[in-house]
Amino acid sequence: MPENTPLVILTRKLPDSVEAQLSRLFDVRLNQDDHVFSREELVLAANEADVLVSTVSDQLTSEILSNAGNDLKLIANYGVGIDHIDLNAARNKLITVTNTPGVLTDDTADMAMALLLATARRLSEGEQNLRNDDWKGWAPTGMLGTRLGGKNLGIVGMGRIGRAVAKRAMAFGLSIHYHNRSQIDQITENSLNATYWQSLDQMLAQMDFVSLNCPHTPQTHHLISARRLKLLKNHAIIINTARGDVIDEQAMISALQAGEIKGAGLDVFENEPNIDKRLFELTNVVIAPHMGSATTEARAAMGEKVLINIKTFVDGHSPPDRVIAD
Ligand code: DGY
Repeated sequence: MPENTPLVILTRKLPDSVEAQLSRLFDVRLNQDDHVFSREELVLAANEADVLVSTVSDQLTSEILSNAGNDLKLIANYGVGIDHIDLNAARNKLITVTNTPGVLTDDTADMAMALLLATARRLSEGEQNLRNDDWKGWAPTGMLGTRLGGKNLGIVGMGRIGRAVAKRAMAFGLSIHYHNRSQIDQITENSLNATYWQSLDQMLAQMDFVSLNCPHTPQTHHLISARRLKLLKNHAIIINTARGDVIDEQAMISALQAGEIKGAGLDVFENEPNIDKRLFELTNVVIAPHMGSATTEARAAMGEKVLINIKTFVDGHSPPDRVIAD
């Protein structure tokens, strides 16, 4: 780090309070109009910055990072997911990477439950019906959905967010099942009354609802593949608040179109922000624009984490949310 105040470049507009706090401590370059940086702008930022504050909308590829300036020592990502950063390239360039875990757990879990309820109870479809002035009044067989209580929920990825989803789902009377790289500790498992499935395939075949809560890594890319989608029951509903790439989106759309699965509640997509327009045609899909962590509280706390990570790093210590070290 330089002797003088480090140059911190923000690729996106962050909440005002976060920008004000960062500006008090560092030489900060803001992105006032909040446009998404082009590849060229990312190259320039990586060349000039001592610290880069990135978000999920920046593709920090191997090409960009391997050509980064020698002053770039820290990427303090504003967000927990870091699949948009080529970690190998960062490691090779001795760039430390940090993220913001923990502070968006509850909000993301709330979003998973909101999507589960909205999809099972056909909330978007019903609202659309009203807005289109198509509603003819209450009917005994109108807008029948699926009850949550008494059903099986399979959680893929039982980290912080998966556990927070499980806690909420229990209150709705769902039985909790999960697949994870390893079984979680017995006390937590008992408190959630959760059943561990070592085999994802076997779990999927038994579930009424599936919630994806694992990070996107090379190992989880298209984890829910065309083959695995076929294992699901016809009445199964998939909820994705993780990353779009965890599902083979083309195969999922085909399965939804063919009625091989009942529905999907999606907060994330494979080619954000370019959504596959066929999703708009599907009435059994509830879609949201990647807003799992979009609460004022979470976004302020994420900023606080970014600030602490930068400050500890600049002061010569190991930042608390270090993903990779130089
Ligand atoms: C996260 O924190 O990973 C959110 O999805 C936004 O990046």
